[in-house]
Amino acid sequence: MLVVLKRDYEEVSRQAARLIASAVRRKPALTLGLATGGTMVGIYDQLVRLHKEEALDFSRVVTFNLDEYLGLAADHPQSFHHFMRENFFSRVNIDPRNVHIPDGTIRGNYDQYCAGYEEAIRQAGGIDLQLLGIGRNGHVGFNEPTSSIGSRTRLKVLTRETIEDNQKSFPSAGEGPRCAITMGIGTILEARRILLMATGASKAAAVAKSIEGPITSAVSASALQLHPDVTFLIDEQAASQLTQREYYRQVLEMTALLTPERLS
Ligand code: GLP
Repeated sequence: MLVVLKRDYEEVSRQAARLIASAVRRKPALTLGLATGGTMVGIYDQLVRLHKEEALDFSRVVTFNLDEYLGLAADHPQSFHHFMRENFFSRVNIDPRNVHIPDGTIRGNYDQYCAGYEEAIRQAGGIDLQLLGIGRNGHVGFNEPTSSIGSRTRLKVLTRETIEDNQKSFPSAGEGPRCAITMGIGTILEARRILLMATGASKAAAVAKSIEGPITSAVSASALQLHPDVTFLIDEQAASQLTQREYYRQVLEMTALLTPERLS
């Protein structure tokens, strides 16, 4: 695991966008796993800026989003379809045919639908780069605590904590959805490279458990310790409960010197 410590949200967003941009430049038909949430807004803003200022080209990029709320149609303002359209897709030259987000409106046959989503990822050659945020309880996607480390795309019941956290963004919407369709941890671990972003003090405990704690289904992001190419990109507040910060800084210095491609 590479732990990259940045000063604040702005720096995390810029560095994440730089990493994504160089992956797209290296492989224009990149298969990109995308995430939602407040943490991602700054990253999408930066990618839009790079698209406008440096002609970063998304025309051949294929995307798969991690998750969607069950019961929300694509035009619902609280849906992740809507989030992605507003924050990213409508602002860059992505081909709508290359965009995949789980359908929140499916009814019944969930397993069949989810197997189809997995198949679509396989058909696209697998995910080259997966972006992740993290929930306060350590969830990635909507893999709530106790999700199997081998889990695949499936229907998932949300915890009270997650429902309340996500409610804050949409105070007028009333009681939000209680279930979601999410890629599984096993699905995420098959991505070739994983980039997890976390900012703010509310994420500090989850970040510390994920990086320095035992691998446990009680903290879904701790399963990332099993993956050979994970970068945690975190700000000072989110890093505040890590005990090995000085070591991560040394690793970063040596990485910049010896294997700088890992940082670009
Ligand atoms: C939701 C998403 C996660 C995201 C999390 C954190 O639960 N399903 O993918 O990581 O929110 O969101 P935020 O970045 O707003 O803290």
